[in-house]
Amino acid sequence: MVPNLQSGMENVYVDTSAICYIDGKRGELYYRGYSIDELSRMSTYEEVAYLLWYGRLPRRSELREFRKSLSLERELQEEVYSIMELLPKSVNPMGALRTIVSYLGNLDGEPSVTVEDVYRKGVSVTAKIPTIVASLWNIKNGREPIRPRKDLSHAANFLYMLHGEKPSKDEERAMDVALILYAEHEINASAFAVMTVGSTLSDYYSALVAGIGALKGPLHGGAVEEALRQFMEIGSPERVEEWFWRKLERGERIMGAGHRVYKTYDPRALIFKEYARALGEPELYAVAEKLEELVESHLAKKGVHINVDYWAGIVFHALGIPPELYTTIFAMGRVAGWTAHLAEYLSHNRLIRPRLKYVGEIGRRYVPIEERG
Ligand SMILES: CC(C)(COP(=O)(O)OP(=O)(O)OC[C@H]1O[C@@H](n2cnc3c(N)ncnc32)[C@H](O)[C@@H]1OP(=O)(O)O)[C@@H](O)C(=O)NCCC(=O)NCCS
Repeated sequence: MVPNLQSGMENVYVDTSAICYIDGKRGELYYRGYSIDELSRMSTYEEVAYLLWYGRLPRRSELREFRKSLSLERELQEEVYSIMELLPKSVNPMGALRTIVSYLGNLDGEPSVTVEDVYRKGVSVTAKIPTIVASLWNIKNGREPIRPRKDLSHAANFLYMLHGEKPSKDEERAMDVALILYAEHEINASAFAVMTVGSTLSDYYSALVAGIGALKGPLHGGAVEEALRQFMEIGSPERVEEWFWRKLERGERIMGAGHRVYKTYDPRALIFKEYARALGEPELYAVAEKLEELVESHLAKKGVHINVDYWAGIVFHALGIPPELYTTIFAMGRVAGWTAHLAEYLSHNRLIRPRLKYVGEIGRRYVPIEERG
């Protein structure tokens, strides 16, 4: 037994932060002190990004300026479209997003990471990720990328670039709320990756690339897509029970369930559920509701409850977004939180360098290759 060793860094505090508070027992989440319920009902993604970065809600003129600066940064340089054309058609969209964000770093001649730089680059990259994601999808499917519009909100512009038509007010709102729900979540694997790279005083893009890489994994952001696929695989509510027990017998996991911090229903999942009920395909919703019942009655004793990724896929599916893109949408929202954490950490930076407890041998004698047989 090694003192202070927390497997998976569970419950380890690496710093203080004023960005996000999670009460994992009560199922509460606050961005800069504002509850996620209020923000998802009353705010917009642009306002939430401002709040996360600058610590307060913007005045009307500040929000107008902030929205404008984001809309002016949406377009990509022509060579970025050319690079996207060169990617193999089979590429995983998160892998492609990682490559393109990395390439943006090569186009930005200023590698420094002061706090001001982080915010400035944050506006540029936050604005561009929706353009990258929609363009990657259009190019992969043999279509011309649809160029961004400056007159639409962040959420509406993404759906416009993906589908080629302006979304309805309800669709725009559902997308906006999804981005708010994904905007921030304290120091999870991806935020920690961003902060670790930032703490070496590497550049903003390298830090973000690390975050995208961490988010891609099925135990983190990749679960959104997997959760929807499992509802589709089950197919109908009558088949849920058998599917559930077979899954557990095989020692496999229900995707969109379980969380390192929440030991109750994830508050973001409750909000996604409302949108899934209102917009989702009724059969998919019925399957998910039945599976939810089983998770909540049989896995709660292990602290496993429905998480943010469970209902999100049903909402995205209703918005006509293909499952392959779900994790990139998570990244589209989370870039605000990553940027906030990077700026906050850099304001009092200390190199992140934990330890590993060595349990191997020491003092082994080197045997020359001729004597090893
Ligand atoms: C998110 C996750 C990695 C957190 O895991 P963790 O804190 O390391 O929890 P553990 O792996 O220690 O699991 C604790 C117990 O709950 C079980 N469990 C956890 N998540 C489960 C799930 N989704 N389905 C079934 N059982 C689950 C584990 O099998 C383990 O059981 P055991 O004690 O009998 O071995 C995990 O819940 C998971 O893999 N979930 C599915 C993927 C997902 O939805 N990810 C998105 C997170 S927002």
